[in-house]
This record gives sequence, structure tokens and C-alpha cells, in this order.
Amino acid sequence: MTQSTTKTSPRRRKFKIRWIFYFIIGLVGVLAIYAWATGARQEAIETGEPHMKAAIYTNYGSPDVIEVRDIKKPVPNDDQILIKVHAASVNPLDWHYLEGTPYVMRAMGVGLRKPEQPRLGINLAGVVEAIGKNVTQFKPGDEVFGGKQGAFAEYVCARADRAIVLKPASLTFEQAASIPTAGVTALQGLRDTGRIQAGQKVLINGASGGVGTFAVQIAKSFGADVTGVCSTKNLDLVRSLGADHVIDYTKEDFTKGSERYDLILDNVGNQPLSGFKQVLKPKGICVMIGGGGPGDNGLIGPMARPLKALLLSPFISQKMSMMMADLTKNDLTTVADLMQSGKVKAVIDRTYPLSQIAEALRYLEKGHARGKVVITMATETK
Ligand SMILES: NC(=O)c1ccc[n+]([C@@H]2O[C@H](COP(=O)([O-])OP(=O)(O)OC[C@H]3O[C@@H](n4cnc5c(N)ncnc54)[C@H](OP(=O)(O)O)[C@@H]3O)[C@@H](O)[C@H]2O)c1
Repeated sequence: MTQSTTKTSPRRRKFKIRWIFYFIIGLVGVLAIYAWATGARQEAIETGEPHMKAAIYTNYGSPDVIEVRDIKKPVPNDDQILIKVHAASVNPLDWHYLEGTPYVMRAMGVGLRKPEQPRLGINLAGVVEAIGKNVTQFKPGDEVFGGKQGAFAEYVCARADRAIVLKPASLTFEQAASIPTAGVTALQGLRDTGRIQAGQKVLINGASGGVGTFAVQIAKSFGADVTGVCSTKNLDLVRSLGADHVIDYTKEDFTKGSERYDLILDNVGNQPLSGFKQVLKPKGICVMIGGGGPGDNGLIGPMARPLKALLLSPFISQKMSMMMADLTKNDLTTVADLMQSGKVKAVIDRTYPLSQIAEALRYLEKGHARGKVVITMATETK
């Protein structure tokens, strides 16, 4: 090939640059229109009687932007149930919504400039107060739990066919509210993405947090040999949940150890992928659940590692997978059944009243919760 054929002519280069310029201008324009439309789309906050208290955020920011306000009590449509919320649990996803990070979340329907849905909270437990005319699965008085946006409120309307199930009578509202995101993530991460088997060596990184405390116990219920990684103050807690071995991350780096694992569930995202590769067996699986704290999420946040893993995958024998929990009725019930049978218990670190929701989020944001942080509504509910 001659030199003249490999070089781009100045005219062609100019043409290319012009089109890249047009593309960028077009993209910025589309995003600007979308941002404008999204700002205008923020769901209206209705006021009036009868009213209820709810945690509201109309702009992205720190927990300081949350207000607990009186808003109109919702009325269920034909397919919904009205739930009087007794307890709600706090999850890292709540501060992701609050901050609007990683920014890609905003473009994926959360709201580019402002949150489209100004109500916070995603996990709850309570009592059905009213039902829509098409609802057959529930009746007033049923105790239920599950996932629904707007959970940090005295009342929530949820579709009866979505992520709401009956609460076992043996569980308190606080215990049941702890289950949805953390419990189902642990179950699906281990069982579906991690394909856990009895007798396997399983390591849970971040064993003392919301997902980790469920994961240690669920992995034990599958008959695995479980190693939990946590800080010194949580070693006894993780042992008490059934972990066969514990590693204190303040003293020891598990990726430098001699043990090899069939499955790693990573709730922290603090280790390089090469570290996981090092301690996984040749056909081992690493399930990347999450990572990163408030303020360090950037454009794609926890999705950066799975993307790197995707690039790495053709060159390694182990499997590095990401998962997103899906709050199905079946899996909510599966975790509740494990709790009823005594194989799994909810670890509740702290409870806060709804009026202190900002404080609860500030605590969770520090990244050192021991199990779940729960919001109680009972004393404030009319
Ligand atoms: N993919 C999904 O569908 C999904 C679903 C739920 C959650 N997530 C993500 O998963 C992550 C964990 O959620 P979570 O609810 O368990 O959070 P969490 O309750 O806030 O967990 C925090 C825990 O992480 C531990 N930790 C902090 N630094 C550590 C380190 N270097 N090594 C080991 N443990 C460490 C802390 O233990 P110490 O106090 O001992 O440090 C604490 O117990 C979050 O990033 C969340 O966004 C993803």
C-alpha cells in the first residue's frame, strides 16, 4: 500500500470534523430538549385533604434537600391497593435517586434535570387499607410488604400485580420492610447469577451490610462454605449469621490469600478485577452487585467495572457478571419463607422515624451500616 492511500486527504478530514461537530451539536440539542421536557414532567405534588406525610425531593442533591411534607393521601385506581405504611427500609438506591447518580440513570427515565418522581423510598411493609375494583389478590386488612417508589410516606398506592406480597404473620413490619431490595438481590445474585451449589466455597465481600447480611445467611441455606469479609467491629456479627470464616479487611486483603473460591459476591466494588481473578477457581464466578459511595459515581458509576469485565472476559476462564435485582413476587416470598423457617433473619442496625429520614440517609451514605436501616411510620400515622 502506498503512503498516499493510507493518509486522509485534508478535504476528507475537514468533512469528517464537520460531521462530528454536527453530531455533537445535535446530541447536545437532543439532551437539552430532553432536559427541558424532563423538568416539565416532574410529577405534581398534590396537596389537600385528607393528607399524609411523605418524604419529597424536588431537586437532586444531598439529604438536606429532602422535606417531609403534608401531601394529599393517594386514592387507589382500579388495579391498585392503598397501603398504610408501617415501616420502610433505606437502601443505597435511595441516595442514587436523591443524587441522580450515576448520571446515566437520569437519562434512563429518572429525570435529566430534576427527579421525575419526587417521592423517595422503594421498600415498605404495611397494611392494605383499600383496594381497586379489579383487585382480587388482596383485601383490606392484609399485612403486606414489597417494593414501590414513594415508600417513605404514611400511605402508598401500588399495583396489586407488581412487587407486593403477603407478609408472614411471624415477621414484624420492620423485618419485612428490610427484605425487598437487599434480600432479593442477595438471593438472585447467589442463586441465579452465581449458580450457587452446596459445598462450594463462597466469599461475600461486604458481608455486614444490607445485602451482605442476607447473602451470608442465604448462601448458608444453600449449603455453601461461606467466608464473610467485613471490618473488625462486624466480625462477630458475620460469624453469628453463620459464616464459616471471616476476614477482617482492615488487616488482611482477601485477594492476596491462598484460598480459592467458586463464587464471589461483591457488594463493595473496592477491589480490582485482577484481584478477583486471582482468588477465583478456574471456573469460578464473580457477581458484581455494587460499589461506590455518594459523590463518586460519575457518569456510569458501578457499571464501569462490569464493562471492564466484559472486555476482560474473552481472556479469562472465570465468569465476571453484573446483576440487577428484579423484585418478583416469587422471590419476595422465597426470602420471607427463609425467614419464617428461621434460616434467615433480618439484621436491623437502626430505626428512625419518618421525620428523620434525612438523618437515616446520611447514616447509610457513610457506607458502614450493619444490616438494614429502617424507617418507622407507626407512631406518626393517623
Ligand atoms: N445490583 C443490584 O441490583 C443492587 C441491589 C442492591 C444493592 N446494590 C448495591 O450493592 C452495594 C451494597 O448494598 P448494601 O445495601 O449492602 O449497602 P450497605 O448496607 O450500605 O453496606 C455497607 C457495608 O459495606 C461494608 N464495607 C465498606 N467498605 C468495605 C470494604 N472495604 N470491604 C468489605 N466491606 C466493606 C460495610 O462494612 P464495615 O462497616 O465493616 O466497613 C457495611 O456493612 C451498594 O453499592 C448498592 O448500591 C446493588
